[in-house]
Parts: sequence; C-alpha cells; structure tokens
Amino acid sequence: MLLLFASTVNPVFGLKKCNFPAIFNFGDSNSDTGGLSATSLKTPTPPYGETYFHKPAGRFSDGRLMMDFMAKSLGLPYLTAYLDSLGTNFTHGANFATYASTIRLPTSIIPAGTYSPIYLDVEYSEFVQFKFRSQVLRQKGGIYAYLLPKGYYFPKALYTFDIGQNDLAEGILGDMTIEEVSVYIPDIVNKFSINVKNIYNLGARSFWIHNTGPIGCLPLILTTFLSAQRDSYGCAKPYNDVAQYFNHKLKEAIVQLRKDLPLAAITYVDIYSVKYSLYSKPKEYGFELPLIACCGYGGIYNYSSSIDCGATITVNGSQIFVGSCERPSVRVNWDGIHYTEAANKFIFDKISTGAFSDPPIPLKMACHNI
Ligand SMILES: *[C@@H]1O[C@H](CO)[C@@H](O)[C@H](O)[C@H]1NC(C)=O
Ligand SMILES: *[C@@H]1O[C@H](CO)[C@@H](O)[C@H](O)[C@H]1NC(C)=O
Ligand SMILES: *[C@@H]1O[C@H](CO)[C@@H](O)[C@H](O)[C@H]1NC(C)=O
Repeated sequence: MLLLFASTVNPVFGLKKCNFPAIFNFGDSNSDTGGLSATSLKTPTPPYGETYFHKPAGRFSDGRLMMDFMAKSLGLPYLTAYLDSLGTNFTHGANFATYASTIRLPTSIIPAGTYSPIYLDVEYSEFVQFKFRSQVLRQKGGIYAYLLPKGYYFPKALYTFDIGQNDLAEGILGDMTIEEVSVYIPDIVNKFSINVKNIYNLGARSFWIHNTGPIGCLPLILTTFLSAQRDSYGCAKPYNDVAQYFNHKLKEAIVQLRKDLPLAAITYVDIYSVKYSLYSKPKEYGFELPLIACCGYGGIYNYSSSIDCGATITVNGSQIFVGSCERPSVRVNWDGIHYTEAANKFIFDKISTGAFSDPPIPLKMACHNI
C-alpha cells in the first residue's frame, strides 16, 4: 500500500537514469568554461582558477563552475568552449556560453563596451554550425571521429541554459530605472523562448533551464546602489525583486513551451532560492561574509567597478596586487560578480537532486517528459 501511494505522489519513482551522452550549454559567465577567454577579448588572469586548476582556466571563478560539477556528475568530461581552437575535444558536447552574454542584442559590446558580442542568438547560430559541420567532419573519419560527437548524441543530449542576468544588468547599470527594465522583461523572456524552440526544432529534447540569481546580493550592485533599500540580510531588495519578476515570467514562458513543444522534457531550476540561502543562512552551510568580494578592492564590499580581481594598483605610491582572500573555500562571492568554487559546488549539490526543480526530478533523470 505504501509503495503504491509513493508511486502515485512521487513522479520520480521508477524513472530510469537518462545516460546523457553529451551536454550543450548556452549562457553567460555563470557557465562560461573558456568561451570569451578563447576570443581573447577578455581573459581571466591569476588568481582566477587558483583553487582547482592552479592557473587561469577561462572561468570567472577561483575554480570550477556549476557547469563543471554538472558534467562530472553525469560522468562526462568538463565541457569545452566551442570557440576554443586549441586542442579541443567535443566528443561529449560543447559550451556556447560566454562571459557577459545577454539574451537580447546588447547595445554596449566588448571591447568598446561591456557585454559579449556573442549573445544568445549568436550562441544558437554557433550551435547550428557545430551540429552540421561536426557531422561533415566526422564523415572524413580518422582523428575527427575521436574529437566530435556522434550524430545520435544530439537528440539524446542535455541542453542547459543559464542566461538573463546580463539583460537585467545592462538596463540597471545603464540608464534605465528598475521600472523601465521590468517593462522589457517579457520581451527578453520571449527571445529566450524563441531560441529554445529553434533548438528543439533541430531535435533537442531534454532542456535544463536555470532561472536567474539574486543580483541584489552581488557586491557590484550593492556598491553601485549604496542607498538602495536593503533586506534583512543586507541585499539590495529592489534589484532582487526585478530578478524575481524575470524568474516569474521565465516560469510562465516554460509552461507555454511545454505546450508548444510536446516531445520536450523541460526542467525549470530555481537557482535563485539556492543562491539566496547562501545570504540568508551562510553559517548553517559553512560560509562567511557572503556580501563581501574575496578578490577585490575598496569600500564596504571589497569591490570597485574600476578595479578588477587580478589587477595591480598603486595606492599611496605602493603597488598592491588584487588577489584572493585567505579562505575562498568558506566564501560565497569571488570577484564581486561571480561565485567561488565552494559556492558553485554547494549550489550544484542542492539543484542536482531535483529539490529546486519543476518538475522535481533529479538531473540524471531530466530526459523524462512527465
Ligand atoms: C576525446 O575525448 C573522448 C572522451 O573523453 C575520448 O574517448 C577520445 O579519445 C578523445 N579524443 C582524442 C583524440 O584524444
Ligand atoms: C594613503 O595615505 C593617507 C595619508 O597618509 C592615509 O590617510 C590613507 O589612509 C592612505 N590610504 C590607504 C588606502 O592606505
Ligand atoms: C579583499 O580583497 C583583497 C584583495 O585585494 C583580499 O586580500 C582581502 O582578503 C579581501 N577582503 C576580504 C574581507 O575578503
């Protein structure tokens, strides 16, 4: 009787593991494993990468990203950036994410401006290229068969997304009020949906979509808006509210996508709540000073927008290297914008179980359309 009951209320009961043969990821610096770095438009320098790779590894963190923990837990190699032209092996997927990518075409573009030229539509076009050209090359045989995914991996792969934060940032840090940014959110989310549909139309079936995090808890936002209203944990409330509004619209869009794409398994993952718990209960999870950048300089949040982690600055005539804090393993924020490896691992461990997902199925089973 108990078992019967369990099988009716718990959708996970009896589901098989998916054995995803590959991952294709779309996103921004939260999941960039070397994309923008490969373009050389912006490359992380020491102390980036010091915790795990012991050298800069194209990631904007001291170590691994959620994306790395995800690949590892699925038994796959760390994802290679599509743009990486040296010694790359795409057998088990490719990563199209780049630092500062947006969903919509940004107006301010690196190197003259702030955001990545590789916004989501471009990431999608790269995927189209990759899917087609990888199969043409495989047919040549030889080494290519050991560097590129098999054709049948594409429909069986996991397609992951973590993007949207920079669309909010571009407005907020540009010349828009929060209200003006909110007006654009339905269009931002709509452009996201169009890309998901296009990828589905190329045969993708399993989608794992992260919502956006509590941007109002980042030293970047806290420093820029020193007088913005704070919540009980010290985060800038209006900026978290706008992130939550984006997430609300994203969730609505995903409900619609499930109707429009009947063969897709689409998992919405509430990254926001997991990240927020690092600010509301840091001690409980073994973290401290969550609002303070580990690698930064100045002000109450150890952050200034003009001084990057890894820079050498001159203060009162002496040179100071902006390096890592003493114990990044107990810190949440790495450089004012990005999370530490320790935080990324914490977040991944929480989301991989399905406890923060809709539907509530674990990562390993995210191919089931339930
Ligand atoms: C690429 O990686 C896959 C999986 O790790 C491996 O089986 C394959 O041999 C690698 N290719 C080359 C040319 O080393
Ligand atoms: C620079 O020197 C001035 C004068 O001695 C001092 O007041 C100030 O605190 C110093 N700044 C820093 C960052 O050390
Ligand atoms: C602030 O950043 C500096 C690097 O410039 C680091 O040495 C220091 O430990 C950081 N402060 C805190 C409280 O983490």
